[in-house]
Amino acid sequence: MLKNSDDALIDKIVSLKKKRGAIILAHNYQLGQVQDIADFVGDSLELSQKAAKTNADVIIFCGVHFMAETASILCPDKVVLLPEIHARCPMAAMITAKQLREKKKEYPKAMVVCYVNSTAEVKAESDICCTSANAVEVTESLDSEEILFVPDQYLGHYVSTKTDKKIIPWPGYCSTHARIQPWHITDLKKEYPQAKVVVHPECRPEVIALADEVLSTGGLCRYANRDDVKEVIVGTESGIIHRLRKENPGKKFIPVKHAICPRMKLTTLESILWSLQEMAHEIKIAEEIRLKAKTAVDRMLLIGRTQTPAK
Ligand code: 13P
Ligand code: SF4
Repeated sequence: MLKNSDDALIDKIVSLKKKRGAIILAHNYQLGQVQDIADFVGDSLELSQKAAKTNADVIIFCGVHFMAETASILCPDKVVLLPEIHARCPMAAMITAKQLREKKKEYPKAMVVCYVNSTAEVKAESDICCTSANAVEVTESLDSEEILFVPDQYLGHYVSTKTDKKIIPWPGYCSTHARIQPWHITDLKKEYPQAKVVVHPECRPEVIALADEVLSTGGLCRYANRDDVKEVIVGTESGIIHRLRKENPGKKFIPVKHAICPRMKLTTLESILWSLQEMAHEIKIAEEIRLKAKTAVDRMLLIGRTQTPAK
């Protein structure tokens, strides 16, 4: 029987991956076929933890640029490849290292928490990094009452509702999560009154106010695995629906409208194969920046994850 073109691509990827000693890491928002070929699928924190521990010589990072940069910060001796060079998170471009240096002068007593959705240069200017899975715990761990939180204003706002520390937010945002409006949730809730509402902390506060749980993408996957959870309105990027349905047959996952991140959707089976063939695009960071950024990322990894969905 003739193989379809995806099967042929998958065979080539599997054999070349072996030859190169590569591991494929994919974010929860990637296309279904990309998630299916990955060795590991996870949220930003889980992916950086995986990158820090892998013995593979080559990491193919199916996600966006800052994620591959984080892997490269942690594993300078490995080849980190981003299959699609234009896969960049727009929020990470909303603050530069120069802008952060200026802001720090305005708040000399504040410590800087930098969301992992940022460039290596911005991480290098920060005291500690966080992801959506540990932003509250990271902020609480700091020995300062004033926190400059960059670049996501909505994650910063969410953290401010969970801590007594003063949060000074940078006005960045995720263009995908900002499209989710409260009426998208309330309309779905009318249609599915039994469903639990889970949203990502990058959502605007009016959306977060309607949620039963506010979780990272990894937190949402663990929540969905629970026996008592049967039906969920999913307030985050729709790529995660693939994993939720695959891991939880028989349960109902209802995506919200318009929540698609175009940059997360650039990576395809073709681009993964091309990346393995050409060993491109390699993500490397100047050593001086890398070492400073690594201090911020290592501090976060020491804290790890304490976020668990409420029972
Ligand atoms: P997670 O760390 O929750 O996977 O989020 C990453 C991201 O880019 C969300 O938009
Ligand atoms: Fe960036 Fe938002 Fe896309 Fe995540 S979903 S990569 S924060 S634009």
